[in-house]
Amino acid sequence: MCGITLSQSRQKTVYLLNGPNLNLLGTREPDIYGAKTLADVEAECATLCASLGVALTFRQSNHEGELVGWIQEAGLSGNNIGLVINPGAYTHTSVALRDAISGTGIPTIEVHLSNIHKREEFRHHSYISPVANGVILGLGTKGYSLALVAMNDILDKT
Ligand code: DQA
Repeated sequence: MCGITLSQSRQKTVYLLNGPNLNLLGTREPDIYGAKTLADVEAECATLCASLGVALTFRQSNHEGELVGWIQEAGLSGNNIGLVINPGAYTHTSVALRDAISGTGIPTIEVHLSNIHKREEFRHHSYISPVANGVILGLGTKGYSLALVAMNDILDKT
């Protein structure tokens, strides 16, 4: 008798979420955040994810509740799903985003374009870092690619 073993594992998927004002990338304080637009970042991430065999869900919102909803959507939709998030200013204020991450248990990498520790004091504290697997900051848009590669490794091990 001949048998075929089908993989039961679900497609690896990464939700890459950007918080408030990151839709303005390219024109917003380019000396701090760089010249690339969010569309440029999305295109680069899509190419990278295709080469990694990872499905990418790339979204941005200026609304905290919408971001919470997307984290819940990702975290509750099964295994093999990770989160890469630049929470923008909500990094420094949002217990709700932190609770969504810890409440769903989704593997998470926090990204910041700028080195928040070199900037104003109010940016030094992150509500997200204590519930993230890792944090990448200060490396500009390259941070998103590094986070995707790292998340792919995390998903391979889970
Ligand atoms: C940011 C840093 C935050 O302090 C700021 O509010 C942002 C962007 C970054 O990517 O460097 O909106 O998350």
